[in-house]
Amino acid sequence: MTFTQRHLLGIEPLHPMEITAILDLAEDYAALNRSDRKHSEALKGLTQINMFFENSTRTQASFELAGKRLGADVMNMAMQTSSVKKGETLIDTALTLNAMHPDLLVVRHPSSGAVNLLAEKVNCAVLNAGDGRHEHPTQALLDALTIRRKKGRLHRLTVAICGDIAHSRVARSNLILLGKMENRVRLVAPPTLMPAGVSEFGCEVFDDMRAGLQDADVVMMLRLQKERMDGGFIPSEREYYHRYGLDAEKLACAKPDAIVMHPGPMNRGVEIDGTIADDINRSVIQEQVEMGVAVRMAAMDLLARNLKAARNAA
Ligand code: NCD
Repeated sequence: MTFTQRHLLGIEPLHPMEITAILDLAEDYAALNRSDRKHSEALKGLTQINMFFENSTRTQASFELAGKRLGADVMNMAMQTSSVKKGETLIDTALTLNAMHPDLLVVRHPSSGAVNLLAEKVNCAVLNAGDGRHEHPTQALLDALTIRRKKGRLHRLTVAICGDIAHSRVARSNLILLGKMENRVRLVAPPTLMPAGVSEFGCEVFDDMRAGLQDADVVMMLRLQKERMDGGFIPSEREYYHRYGLDAEKLACAKPDAIVMHPGPMNRGVEIDGTIADDINRSVIQEQVEMGVAVRMAAMDLLARNLKAARNAA
């Protein structure tokens, strides 16, 4: 078996063959999702609990739908960000849930590393749905599947990741995945939004957006994550849009067939021009959402197979 993980905590621990295994299976689920009978029994009899300690629209909906289409019993815990603190509270919650014998736990948390910590305390498969600025593996996988479908390959592409890199787990997971698959990654951001030490990932760094987009195959835009900023990272949104917002003129620096991506939620007129976001010839934003369900089905299916194998062996 190619996919040997117990949990999906990040892209970091994955072998390129495991990434390919998830994407290949996700292709099958993408086809199933476009058919009339969107159902499989891969998770039949299993219980999936979604714990989102941070707001989410598409990721939570996508995980819920993915679990239901695979036949799992899916429960969404209503987590109020304000009432839950990290540390012991998180572990206590995890232990309580663990006592209900879930098989899959999907967790989003504002603290980097919280999901890894939780995975050590429970005996089910844990999927990271985004932890702080750390990782968001299913987002990187759905982005990879979208790129592979649109470009016909997932290697030797020039991918420009632009915007608020410093606060972005999406950027981090994508950077690691695209690097593992041997693509050329460029990070484009103002110096205040570029994390320290990015050069160790072997990517090129730009603060001039036009230079960063030159001949890119893929332009991946990121949301300005104001909720993670505690001071003045940008002079003003207007100034930011002027220098780093994706508009037709800046996009013209990329290859003529370059695709435009955004993980959502979008701030139109801040990091991206609404017309470009809606341009079906360039923007693949809706396809990203569609691939999100397929990728999550694939990831949960593969983890459930490993879980069952481990339980049978015990
Ligand atoms: C991203 C996230 O939550 O990390 N959104 C998502 O999962 N689709 C990016 C963001 O919030 O900007």
